Amino acid sequence: MAKNFYITTPIYYVNARPHIGHAYTTIACDTIARRQRLLGSDTYFLTGTDEHGQKIQRAAEAAGKSPQQFTDEVSAEFRALWDRMRITYDDYIRTTSDRHKRGVQELWRRIRDNGHIYKGSYTGQYCVFDELYVDVGPGQPCSECGRPTETVKEENYFFKLSAFAEPLLQLYTSQPDFIRPETRRNEVIAFVRSGLRDLSISRSTFSWGIPVPDDPKHVVYVWLDALANYITALGYGSDDPSKFKNFWPADVHMIGKEIVRFHCVYWPAFLMAAGLPLPKSIVAHGWLLFEESKMSKSRGNIVRTETILDVLGADALRYFLLREVVFGQDGSFSFDALVQRYNSDLANGLGNLASRTLAMITRYFKGEVPYPSNAAAHTGEEDLIAALAKHTINEFHELFEQHQFSRALELAWALVAAVDKYIVENEPWALAEKHDEHSRSRLATVLYTSAEALRIVTALAHPVMPEATARIWIQLGLGEIANASLADLRWGQLKLGTKLGKVEPVFPRADKSAIERMQMIEDQQRNPAGATEAQPATGTQAPPPSASQGSAPLNKPAPAATPDGKITIDDFSKVELRVAQVKVAEKVKGADKLLRLEVDLGTETRQILAGIAEAYAPETLVGRKIVIVANLAPRKMRGLESNGMLLAASLEGGKPVLAAFLEEVPVGARLK
Ligand code: ME8
Ligand code: MG
Repeated sequence: MAKNFYITTPIYYVNARPHIGHAYTTIACDTIARRQRLLGSDTYFLTGTDEHGQKIQRAAEAAGKSPQQFTDEVSAEFRALWDRMRITYDDYIRTTSDRHKRGVQELWRRIRDNGHIYKGSYTGQYCVFDELYVDVGPGQPCSECGRPTETVKEENYFFKLSAFAEPLLQLYTSQPDFIRPETRRNEVIAFVRSGLRDLSISRSTFSWGIPVPDDPKHVVYVWLDALANYITALGYGSDDPSKFKNFWPADVHMIGKEIVRFHCVYWPAFLMAAGLPLPKSIVAHGWLLFEESKMSKSRGNIVRTETILDVLGADALRYFLLREVVFGQDGSFSFDALVQRYNSDLANGLGNLASRTLAMITRYFKGEVPYPSNAAAHTGEEDLIAALAKHTINEFHELFEQHQFSRALELAWALVAAVDKYIVENEPWALAEKHDEHSRSRLATVLYTSAEALRIVTALAHPVMPEATARIWIQLGLGEIANASLADLRWGQLKLGTKLGKVEPVFPRADKSAIERMQMIEDQQRNPAGATEAQPATGTQAPPPSASQGSAPLNKPAPAATPDGKITIDDFSKVELRVAQVKVAEKVKGADKLLRLEVDLGTETRQILAGIAEAYAPETLVGRKIVIVANLAPRKMRGLESNGMLLAASLEGGKPVLAAFLEEVPVGARLK
C-alpha cells in the first residue's frame, strides 16, 4: 500500500512581497514532495500565507488599503510566483479563509474544554515585528530582534504552557528526530529546561484576527492562528475529516531557524493540549544571507526570485540553492556565485555531458543507442563507471532522506565528472575515425556507458531540476519523464536501440552580462526613486529610499564609482545628511502627493517639497524631527523651489515611512 507523506512550508507573512528566502524553503519542500511522489508515496504538499495580526494590519494601513484587500493582493502574488515556478503544492491555505477560521475555533474549543485555557490580564512588552511577547522591561528593546517593544496592558486568555515543560522534554527524548538538525534540538531543550511561562493567546486591542469562540472582543493570538494551518488545511474542524485522517500527523514541517521555538515548543504543546497527534519532524534550515546579513524585507536587502527566473530560469535557482547552501547552515547568496555555479555544474557539467554524448550517438549511430557487439570491447573502466553509478544511486537516496541536498548533488556531479574524464580518455571521436570492428565496438561501448550514466544523473536530479531533466529525458528518447519509473532506478536499464529525440542544448552558457542584467533589474526594483530624479516636475515623486539601502540619495550611479559599482567613503561624505525639524507643513495646490515643508536646520530655515502627502497629514508633521539631504541642488516643482530632500523608506506598493530616531537628537546634527 502506498505510504502517505505530508510536507508543509511555513505560511508566509503577507506584509511584504516574496523574496528568494521564501523561495528557498518552498523549493526544498517541492523537491522533497516531487521525490516522494516518484517513490510512490501518496504525497500532500501544503503552502500558504499568514494574514492576521498587528504587523499585517499596520502594513495594510501603511499601504492605504483595507487589511482584506491588502492580504488578497499579496497572497495572490506569492501564489502566482509559485505557479510560475511550477511548485507542485497540493493546497494553498490562507488564514483569512473560512475553512481556516472554523478549524482554529475548533482547536481553541478543544484546548479550552480540556482545561488548558484561563483568563487573566497581561502587562508587558510586545514585539510587533516578531508577533511575540518578550520578557523585557518597559522601554527596552526586543530580546529577539532588538527592535523597540510596545507596552501592552490587556485582559486576555492564557494557555497553560508551563504545564507542558515535562511532556515536551519527554517528547524530545523519545522522538530524537522530532527536531532536526541536532543543533536546533539542543537549543530547544535548553530553552524548555530553563522553564516555561504561560502564554497569552488572545489580543483585545486590535481586531484583525479570528474571534475567540464565545468571547469575540478577543482575537486569537496570531501564532496559534498560524500554526493551526497545518491541520485546518486538511479539514480539521470541518465536515470532511478524510484528509486529516489520511495525512495527519505531518511527516515534515520545514521552517527557517528563526521560528523553531514556535514550531517545536508552542505547536506540540497546543496539540498535546487538544489531544491531537504530534508531527513526526520539524526540519529547520539556515538563512540565506545577502551582503552578509539575513535577507529580509525589514532590512531591505532582498533579492526577488523573478529576477533570476527572467535571466537563468527556475531550475538554475533550484539547483544553486540546494547545491550551494549546506542545508541547516546559513549560506550567502550572490549573483556571481549563482552564475559561476550555473556555468560550472550545469552548462559545462550536466549540459555538456548531455550534448556531447547525444550528439555523438546521433552522428556515429544515426541517433540510436548503440550496443557493444563484442565482449572484448568491454574494459575495467566500464565496470568502474557502473559501480560508481550504483554507489551514487544508493547514497543519493540516503543523503536526501537526511536533507543533505548539497552532498547528494555533489555526489551525483562526481559521476558527471568521472564520465567526462572517461570520454576524454577514450576519445570516441578518434575511435570513430577508425573503421575496424574492434574500434567500432569500443565506440559503441563508450557511448552506451556515457548515455547510461547521463540517464542516471538525470533521473536523480529530476526532483531538483524538473524542467531541464524532462528535456534531457526526451532527448535520450525516453519520453515523458513523468511516466518513468524512477523509484527502482538501476544501472543498465537504458535499452539498446532507443531512438534519441532531437538534441538541443539545455543549459546555454551564461556570460558576465547575466550578472549585470540581474543586478540591474534588482537595482531598478530597489530604487524606484531613480525615476523621481528623472521627472521632478511632475510633483508626483516618491521619496528616496532609506539610507539603509546603500546608495540612498545617489540614485544615479555615483560619478566616481569604483569598478564594482560601490562608492568610496569620500563619495558618501559629499552627501550632507542632517536632522531637521518641521515648522510648517501644507498641501500644494493641484498636486495630490506633494507637501510644502519649512524645516529648521538650526542655522537656517528651508523650503522643501516632498511627495509624502498620501502618507502624512500636514498637521502630524509639525514639530517632527526628520532627516534631510541638505546639500542637494535646488529644484523647481509646481513653480516652487525645493532646497533639499527628505529621507524615507520607500515601500514597494506602499506608502513612504519617514526616517526617525529613537533617541533625542538636536536639530542640525549631521548623519555620517
Ligand atoms: O515567520 N533565508 O513568516 P515569514 C532563508 N508567518 N529562509 C528564509 C529567509 C532567509 N533569508 N527569509 C524568509 C513567518 N525565509 C510566519 C510563519 S508558520 C505557521 C508562520 C523563509 O514571512 C523561512 O522558511 O517571516 C522562514 O522561516 C520563513 O520564510 C519566514 O517567513
Ligand atoms: Mg520572518
